[in-house]
Amino acid sequence: MIKREAWGSRIGLILAVAGNAIGLGNFLRFPVQAADNGGGAFMIPYMISLLLLGIPLLWIEWALGRFGGARGHGTAVAVFDYLWKNPLAKYIGLLGVLIPLAVVVYYTYIESWTLLYSFFSLMGSLPSTPLTSDVKDYLQPFQQFLAEKTGQTSSGIFLTPAVETYLFFVVTLLINLYILYRGVSAGIEKVAKFAMPLIFIMAIILMVRVFTLTSPDGRNFLDGLGFLWNPDFSALTDPKVWLAAAGQVFFTLSVGFGAILTYASYIKPKDDIALNGLAGASVNEFAEVILGGSIAITASVIFFGIPATAMIASQGAFDLGFMALPAIFANIPYGQFFSFIWFLLLFFAGVTSSIALSQPAIAFLEDELGWSRQKAVAVLGVFLFISAHIPIFIKGALGEIDFWVGTLGLVVFALFEAIIFFWIFDSRKAWEELTRDNDIKIPFIFYYIMKYVAPGLLIIILLSWSIEMLPQQLQKTDAGTWAGRLFILALTVIGILLIKLAWEKRNGRTSP
Ligand code: PHE
Repeated sequence: MIKREAWGSRIGLILAVAGNAIGLGNFLRFPVQAADNGGGAFMIPYMISLLLLGIPLLWIEWALGRFGGARGHGTAVAVFDYLWKNPLAKYIGLLGVLIPLAVVVYYTYIESWTLLYSFFSLMGSLPSTPLTSDVKDYLQPFQQFLAEKTGQTSSGIFLTPAVETYLFFVVTLLINLYILYRGVSAGIEKVAKFAMPLIFIMAIILMVRVFTLTSPDGRNFLDGLGFLWNPDFSALTDPKVWLAAAGQVFFTLSVGFGAILTYASYIKPKDDIALNGLAGASVNEFAEVILGGSIAITASVIFFGIPATAMIASQGAFDLGFMALPAIFANIPYGQFFSFIWFLLLFFAGVTSSIALSQPAIAFLEDELGWSRQKAVAVLGVFLFISAHIPIFIKGALGEIDFWVGTLGLVVFALFEAIIFFWIFDSRKAWEELTRDNDIKIPFIFYYIMKYVAPGLLIIILLSWSIEMLPQQLQKTDAGTWAGRLFILALTVIGILLIKLAWEKRNGRTSP
């Protein structure tokens, strides 16, 4: 067996895993989801989802990763094949490679906007509008600006982004590829050690700044925190809020993508997973609810009030972070600096996540096809560069890809992880595998949560999604939608062919 890479130190591992989890999800997606789903009303389903789905599934993914790593494999393709003696297993495991791979195609693009915007902030070239009473007027120049830079202003099927947007995307992709090329310990871990402290420092600077803001009509940070932290029980019966909360928990913890599995496969066979998993999740939740919850939402509530903040959040994923926040910064002293910090924070958080999203594909090429890391990264680079043209240039493709992989796919994959481990493999053996060699004891109640509660909830989530969202999504027939679907289809076909190739090679090697 070829010697696989490994993490250099425990602190490095925890920072890398925290970097995996802490991303655009914490600082951009969480505030939007929370504000769009009633603030305090969102937080109760969020916490419950964290306990009943997020943490248990995270531990399952860690266990699968350690199990695979001990046998020289870092993706669900091989892990599922071990656990389930069925020729289909490895193809189901392919989800754990394809999902992160499809996500990283558009994730990297959005990440590149944050680098672009931090550059614009530094240069002072973002719009600046004086404070007016109407939020819509106030944000309009920023809307226009983002639309111009990303090409949304063009009519028709195709988008024509600004040249600098395209250039920054290429630079961002190259940065990612360089880190991956350096490898697990000298690349990913090293970057995490540097980026994580920086992310926390930048987030704390921004939080302190937001906490000392007051609006002309007298609102301050308490209004913002009140919006998020005053529980509102009335929305607990709304399935939409539950779906949004569960989706956010998955996204932010990086659970159900296969990316945690791959990172966990680089620990030693007898290393702890329980404490490492919990530590990573705790750092992520601190970054999400404390830091992520105190910057964008709070600033927006102070300046615009609660109804306007909810309205901004409901308009789209980017309105809060790319419009409301820079608009606020344009009206405070040294705003240019804070705007720069804000986008740089997003960029660093994004990079440590996009490399995590890319690593399963690299691990697959290395472990299953025996490629060198250099070759794997080179091929991945070409693939990502070409594929990115779909969301960059075709209107609507990004949303379509995000729906299938970033919303639906991860729930499906998480369900397979739980079922294959606890039902097909054997729940006693799964529990043994999960609880061996750990530094903390996982309470036995999680046995029942992992075996019954989490899969049950996932099935409910999938069913209600299929009823609520799938029909609408399937009715779309515009060019971008089809481009997104074809892209996912093509990816799947390539994946299947590569697995066939890998298993032929394998069987050829073992049989006399
Ligand atoms: N958790 C990351 C975020 O919050 C996204 C991500 C998912 C990263 C899966 C890696 C793997 O942005």
